[in-house]
Amino acid sequence: MKTQLLKPNEESIKLACELLKNGEVVGLPTETVYGLAGDCSNPSAIKKIFEAKGRPMDNPLIVHIASIDMLDGIVKEVNDDALKMMKAFWPGPLTIIMPKGPKVCNESCAGLDSVGVRMPSNEIARKVIALSKTPFSAPSANLSGKPSPTNAKTVYEDMNGKIPLIIDGGDCETGVESTVISVLNKTPIILRPGAITKEMIEEVLKKPIKLAGAITKQLSSNKPVLSPGMKYKHYAPNANVIILKGSLKKFTEYVNSHKTPNTFALVFDEEKDALNIPTLTYGRKNYPSEQAHNLFTKLRELDERNAKTVYARCPQKKGVGLAVYNRLIKSAGFNIIKL
Ligand code: TXA
Ligand code: MG
Repeated sequence: MKTQLLKPNEESIKLACELLKNGEVVGLPTETVYGLAGDCSNPSAIKKIFEAKGRPMDNPLIVHIASIDMLDGIVKEVNDDALKMMKAFWPGPLTIIMPKGPKVCNESCAGLDSVGVRMPSNEIARKVIALSKTPFSAPSANLSGKPSPTNAKTVYEDMNGKIPLIIDGGDCETGVESTVISVLNKTPIILRPGAITKEMIEEVLKKPIKLAGAITKQLSSNKPVLSPGMKYKHYAPNANVIILKGSLKKFTEYVNSHKTPNTFALVFDEEKDALNIPTLTYGRKNYPSEQAHNLFTKLRELDERNAKTVYARCPQKKGVGLAVYNRLIKSAGFNIIKL
């Protein structure tokens, strides 16, 4: 299959709509990361998404809508907590897990009776959904296990020959995937941290909410999994990533005594000259949104530069920093050394 990479304009958006309506899969920008979009009600479209990614069939997809009325049939009910969060954070990077409605095919939800829904703020994504009148299911547009794509070129690298069209909407604003929160139980629980933080949600709901343990710790195999995505190795470049937790001085000492050829450092902007080995930076130290914006691009760059071992500085765990920490620790396979 030939993959077209097109700039967004009336014609390419129309083409995307037609492809979606015909059960094809399209690479589209969102404000978080690029998505692989397919009609959420069409099992054959959903099957193509799983195949293109090489994604395990038991890992459900998120449904994307452009307006509140589209929720009809996609979810069975919207409770108070969900409604408050929709009003506060949609359109935007928040996915809410609710009871599944009949419009979404079982394949999209991997057989679960719940569905994750979000309303993206990216204009291109919204236009495609609104014009095609087709809410789409979309996972991140990377090959399963690779860092999520934050620009169209990366989508092309992973999906060339597998899908008919990618729309190039430039760099994604946020750079990490949406916050995923479940409202299936009395106390909402964040299953994946993102740009909408626990603190922001608690302020809107006026009550404490929970954070799934798997966000910061490796799942033990005998515990039930709240979100299938938690089980899988994620965001990993080919290199062996190791997070070193401690001061810059200790970091430098450790790296200098452990470095081998093709060892790279991934540090904060202010620290770019601290080491005498190849060094990439992923944002200023106290600016977690900047780090979120850059992280996946930098993980991909490490592959391009053939890194074998990567020592990374540890992001702070609060606010948006928690999302950065979560992605980095997963890319490191939970390999963290306290200095
Ligand atoms: O920002 C985003 O959310 C991006 C863009 C494209 O919108 N999409 C994305 O999708 O990150 P994906 O498939 O890469 O991640 C979806 C995550 C997975 O970890 C999945 O297990 C979880 O959401 N998930 C989806 N539906 C669920 C459900 N019903 N119950 C629990 N977890 C669910
Ligand atoms: Mg993904």
